[in-house]
Amino acid sequence: MHILSANQFTPGEMDQIFGRADEIRKKCHTIEGRRYLASLHQGQQICSVFYEASTRTKASFELAAIKLGMGVYETENAGKFSSVAKGETIEDTIRVLSGFGVSAIVLRTKEEGLAARAAKVSRVPIINAGDGKGEHPTQALLDAYTIKREKGALNGLKIVMGGDLAHGRTVRSLSHILAQYPDNEITFISIPELQISEDIKSFLTAQGVKHKESSDMFEPLRSADVVYWTRLQKERLADPSLVPEDGFVIDSHALKVMNKAAILMHPLPRVGEISLEVDNDPRAKYFEQTENGLYIRMALLDNAAEVKNNS
Ligand code: CP
Repeated sequence: MHILSANQFTPGEMDQIFGRADEIRKKCHTIEGRRYLASLHQGQQICSVFYEASTRTKASFELAAIKLGMGVYETENAGKFSSVAKGETIEDTIRVLSGFGVSAIVLRTKEEGLAARAAKVSRVPIINAGDGKGEHPTQALLDAYTIKREKGALNGLKIVMGGDLAHGRTVRSLSHILAQYPDNEITFISIPELQISEDIKSFLTAQGVKHKESSDMFEPLRSADVVYWTRLQKERLADPSLVPEDGFVIDSHALKVMNKAAILMHPLPRVGEISLEVDNDPRAKYFEQTENGLYIRMALLDNAAEVKNNS
């Protein structure tokens, strides 16, 4: 019932979520469809509790709920404006919020593992909307949905993930999902200090997924089917000045090298690692990716609300 890690979803479950997202997408594009969606879950609510900054995840979850007819209680700086600021534990916060009859709690925390702690005491589904350097499972679902839509499959792909892989939770969650499909090969591009962590490498090895590391971005770009770029997570670095900022930038030169059939993704926000000139290239899919997040999150909340309807 909780959504805590990307590895909890089987390919069959993902197909169901993607199918529901496709139906919802269609309905969102007609007035009759929007009215129908808004009639589905009236009288239900979600709590949206963010201890860390967000644009896409918070807005898309809250709009997803509203478009499904649900109410939203939200706090976007929960560390400051909830009683956590007075020393309350996450467990007590969740015990209280989950007792208010909501259908789900969407939770973003600065520290990994807090969503799992919240789930242990919650009376309603906890949706991990990013826990520190841990995971971002709903981002991984929308990433996989985007890859499926653009490339037609989630198997047999050469995927390049680049940027700050040490602190990025989206690459961790996406690795979990890609490992569920056969014949994928992942190349992780970064400087040694920001490379993907040992636990993900061990996981991929155990799952039989071919993977390697590189500090050269250009050679892997030539044959990649999917290029997944990420930003430097300055907020998680003890001393950001030690990391060169101009190392891995996708610009017009990188586009010339990149496979013509590749797609370029980014969880966003970007802060200079994809040049603005790239936006008009047909391979750039990061804004479609963000929009896909709305439909995936509507599908997830629709499911949670259905469970509550039937309970
Ligand atoms: N991709 C993502 O999680 O973006 P936000 O931090 O803006 O939610």
